[in-house]
Amino acid sequence: MKTFSQIMGDQTLLPLIQASTVDDGLNIATAMYKADIKLVEVVLRTKNSLDIIKAIKQKFPELLVGAGTVFSEKSLDDVMRIDVDFIVTPAVSSNLLGLLSQTSLPVLPGVSNNADIVLTLENGFEDMKLFPAELSGGTDYLSAISSIFSNVKFCPTGGINESNWQDYLAMKNVFAVGGSWVSKQEWVDNKAWERITNTCKGFL
Ligand code: 3PG
Repeated sequence: MKTFSQIMGDQTLLPLIQASTVDDGLNIATAMYKADIKLVEVVLRTKNSLDIIKAIKQKFPELLVGAGTVFSEKSLDDVMRIDVDFIVTPAVSSNLLGLLSQTSLPVLPGVSNNADIVLTLENGFEDMKLFPAELSGGTDYLSAISSIFSNVKFCPTGGINESNWQDYLAMKNVFAVGGSWVSKQEWVDNKAWERITNTCKGFL
């Protein structure tokens, strides 16, 4: 099985899709696809999230589409019943990590401190999401732990934006950065799809 950073390949942006309707979700995904994005995360935070994942997979079979905000057994069951390419969690527990290590999908578990990192390593995962990155110590924290957890690679999310993403990507223990700043709610509300395309293009 591939690890999460392996399926990211050269892409160093993990763009988030959060939408209330399937149409908005598809429009966001289309805007990202136009920017040559190969992998997107749909967060399970609206009632249509699972349908949005299904619709994106149907329209763009070659796009890797993952489910984010997975932390309950129910949400894990729900995503395992549909076609998803990877799973992202906002936090970890022994129970959740045990269940995730039994799936055949690449997983990006979300950690926010040293204890989470050790627990996640104990369950066999070396790629981790640092969330919420800015509130968990940001680049100072990543720098402080880099020699302790030298085999761990991070994808920070939470508070990443146009003014700090470069600082994160410059860290040697960071393989990608994620967030919603590339598909701002205001742009979705105004159907400003080209702003999403241009922001993703500017990043790549
Ligand atoms: C996530 O699920 O990773 C976060 O909600 C991203 O945080 P952001 O909205 O600050 O980018």
